[in-house]
Amino acid sequence: MRVMTMYKLPKYWDEILRFSSVNTELEIKTLDNIFKKNQVKTILDVACGTGRHSVPLAKLGYKVTGLDYSSYQIKKAKDNARKEKVSPQFLVKDANKFISQKKFDAAICMWSTIGEEPLKYQKVIKNVCQSLKVEGIFVIDNKNWKSARKDTGVKNSSYQERGLSLKRKLWDRYTENFRVRQVVFEINGKKYEELWVTHLLNTKAWIAELKRAGFKAFEIFHDYKKRRLKSPKRILVVAKK
Ligand SMILES: C[S@@+](CC[C@H](N)C(=O)[O-])C[C@H]1O[C@@H](n2cnc3c(N)ncnc32)[C@H](O)[C@@H]1O
Repeated sequence: MRVMTMYKLPKYWDEILRFSSVNTELEIKTLDNIFKKNQVKTILDVACGTGRHSVPLAKLGYKVTGLDYSSYQIKKAKDNARKEKVSPQFLVKDANKFISQKKFDAAICMWSTIGEEPLKYQKVIKNVCQSLKVEGIFVIDNKNWKSARKDTGVKNSSYQERGLSLKRKLWDRYTENFRVRQVVFEINGKKYEELWVTHLLNTKAWIAELKRAGFKAFEIFHDYKKRRLKSPKRILVVAKK
């Protein structure tokens, strides 16, 4: 059994994405709508992974810079961009330390990544605020951990296609302030185990943190149709500097 991060296995990242319920097309449509409303032209994609948003946003004509601390993810992001004939800028950088000299109209941090270690969300929010122009916006996508807390126990799933066999077993445990997720991936018979620690913050706490960093105005949505729901599964914050 190897203990490592899936971010070092980007070869399989797109297949692993199939285990999740992300709807990239709808996310891009909503982001495009938010960006048009705010006259956004330049975007910083924080912890961009393999370019799931950077690449389609570049295809829509935005000037995108994606950053990720994993050189493995950035290499795959560059490959994905090349395939789509676009060339966003990709940087291998630690979001905990990175402040851009060039100021952006908008930043995004998607797929519940902001509260996930090894990101230090207080530092990342401050750094992003300093990397934005006046009135720049920061879109944070997060799970509503209050509802996710009910979702505990062991879950098994598997996927097979084109000679690839993937199995996933995950355990979620919740403490007062953290989710601890243990994942075992089996890829073509080889096992990889990961541990994830996520800070559990509610909407009020996110807004307090964003205000502390210098953001002034906030819009909250509970899904990518921009609805406000009674028992939301997601918290989407659009914070304006
Ligand atoms: C769940 S993935 C999300 C990727 C992408 N935003 C998406 O929605 O597909 C989290 C990403 O955060 C990156 N990451 C984790 N800690 C980081 C840090 N301190 N600085 C930059 N990137 C980091 C990982 O390498 C990984 O690519």
